[in-house]
Amino acid sequence: FEVNWDASAADKGGWDSFMAKEITENPEAVSNTLMGRIQDGAVTLSSLDVLGENYFREIDRITVIACGTAFYSGQTAAYAIERWAGIPVTLELAHEFRYRTPFITDRTLVISLSQSGETMDTLMAVRYAREHGAKTLSICNTQGASIPRESDAVVYTHAGPEVAVASTKAFTAQITALYLFGLYLAQERSTLSSDEIADLLDEFQTIPEKMRAVLEEHDRIKELAHWMADARSVLYLGRSTGFPIALEGALKLKEIAYIHAEGFAAGELKHGPIALIEPGQPVFVIVPSPRHDDSLHPKIVSNIQEIRARGARVLAVIEGGDATVLPYVDEAFACPPTSEFFEPLLRVIPLQIFALELSTAKGLDVDQPRNLAKSVTVE
Ligand code: G6P
Repeated sequence: FEVNWDASAADKGGWDSFMAKEITENPEAVSNTLMGRIQDGAVTLSSLDVLGENYFREIDRITVIACGTAFYSGQTAAYAIERWAGIPVTLELAHEFRYRTPFITDRTLVISLSQSGETMDTLMAVRYAREHGAKTLSICNTQGASIPRESDAVVYTHAGPEVAVASTKAFTAQITALYLFGLYLAQERSTLSSDEIADLLDEFQTIPEKMRAVLEEHDRIKELAHWMADARSVLYLGRSTGFPIALEGALKLKEIAYIHAEGFAAGELKHGPIALIEPGQPVFVIVPSPRHDDSLHPKIVSNIQEIRARGARVLAVIEGGDATVLPYVDEAFACPPTSEFFEPLLRVIPLQIFALELSTAKGLDVDQPRNLAKSVTVE
């Protein structure tokens, strides 16, 4: 007599993999991370009080340290934090930071990002920062883990347990926590008006619903991924916050589908990567809204035309209804309209689904990719 029952299948809630389940939990990861932290149109992060009343007016730079997907969440959020709070934000891979005599003073805030809170490279970098006089803030998804325990302050993400090795909902939760922190900093430093902050927070709370709309594209992305199961290389292009999203999309594909993938800043194309474009080369392009009052959209459209002219197959993640880009792309996946800094929270989802479905199409183990661990506790 044999009981054919897989205990872990129960936890997957009917999904084929933890990753599939966790991608659908992106909206809750954002709403749970926001929960209880917005009051009367302002951010409350009481866990930061330990840093002292005037601390956030006195710091003159922020250094973000992280590895893997967490690094890209930091790179994404840095654009907004600089704009909102008027403070330079630099990003460093934790293992590079630790071994290069980084410039830190007692006016540097070092923010570590880690889903597990146990990544050894990140932990060592936090220790180094503290020894050199900086205050450390941990943004972490695991209560009581080593990194938050060894940091001066902590803001927890509330993404819930993430089991799949490839990070998905923890990524959007990290961006959420960083944005909350950025708006808190803007409050403390009076760099945005209270009306501006209230408007941004109102919009922030619409993001989970908009993410659900993006998740509706799942079947179309699955079809594309199955059709592309033999792809040998996929490129990703973006500008501004679309750049780290391109890097994260490429990382997802490498991690679980074992396909060579590279992300580039689209403006860098002409400085080298365009030489890689040959007929049939699939290229994901992260396209910002044409409504934003900057010049990014026409720039991206001209990048698309450049690669298209060389035979690239263009797969675009766009704002729904963006008719100006449609004539130049082979496939388009639509996201609801939102303002500039909230776009990456939506644009990353089709890329997560694409990696999941390509891995599945190749018959690979989506949740446990070869050679990788969920948390790397050695240097
Ligand atoms: C490992 C995982 C990655 C993760 C990175 C950082 O390499 O395979 O998915 O992004 O560690 O993990 P952390 O727990 O510090 O966010």
